[in-house]
Amino acid sequence: MSKLGLIVGSGLIALDIDVAARAQTHTPYGPPSSPVLSVVIAGHRIPCIARHGEAHAIAPHEVNYRANVWALYQHGVRRLVGVNVVGTIAADFRPGELAVPEQLIDYTWGRESTFGGGERGVLHAEFAEPFSAELAAELVAAGGTLGIAMRRGVYGVTQGPRLETVAEIDRLERDGCTMVGMTAMPEAVLARELGIDYAVLALGVNHAAGRGPRGESVHAQIESHLKEGMTRVARILETLVQDAASRAAL
Ligand code: HPA
Repeated sequence: MSKLGLIVGSGLIALDIDVAARAQTHTPYGPPSSPVLSVVIAGHRIPCIARHGEAHAIAPHEVNYRANVWALYQHGVRRLVGVNVVGTIAADFRPGELAVPEQLIDYTWGRESTFGGGERGVLHAEFAEPFSAELAAELVAAGGTLGIAMRRGVYGVTQGPRLETVAEIDRLERDGCTMVGMTAMPEAVLARELGIDYAVLALGVNHAAGRGPRGESVHAQIESHLKEGMTRVARILETLVQDAASRAAL
């Protein structure tokens, strides 16, 4: 049995899920962004951390990724879905659509990105495939069950909290990125170091800089896609949990 957990980012409030309990959790790396929340999905209690805090006050570069992943590990989580919002880069990836990335490129800097060092020694995590193919396939299958198409592609992880310049997005596109967000790293590698299967469910909420029609404000785009998009994310998570429960894999 490998327990499923969630780290939910900017969509948490829009996701509107019931929290049955909150466990304050201490880690050797300091406090996680939120207590470990028991969120109720399809009648099951799933451990979940609010990546930016329950009040959404922690910026992407200030998130204590190590404490978040460690706290969920302590709560038994061995399969982890990160829910993220992203800007869309590929011309055929429109805001409002969902994606399960296959690869990532890390442009972040200065974030604590390993559990190694000190007594644990240096860790050289194998990371050629940064996401769990099995868990990603389960997310895509959940979309298939619901008739919701899932894009695949490459997630470029930027430092934030500011959005990118047009030239930066041009560079990300040349590098092969089809979407851009700020939080899949170091979450993905920290999960890998602990042997947790990790995949991302991303909601496109805006055209990345210089993409899409001119003159549309990013914040207006996010406003118009977040709420409705998160209702689809919630349905996918419900299906994922039901499927896992039917295989006794929760
Ligand atoms: N860039 C980076 N991160 C994001 C974006 C973006 O355009 N939209 C949502 N998260």
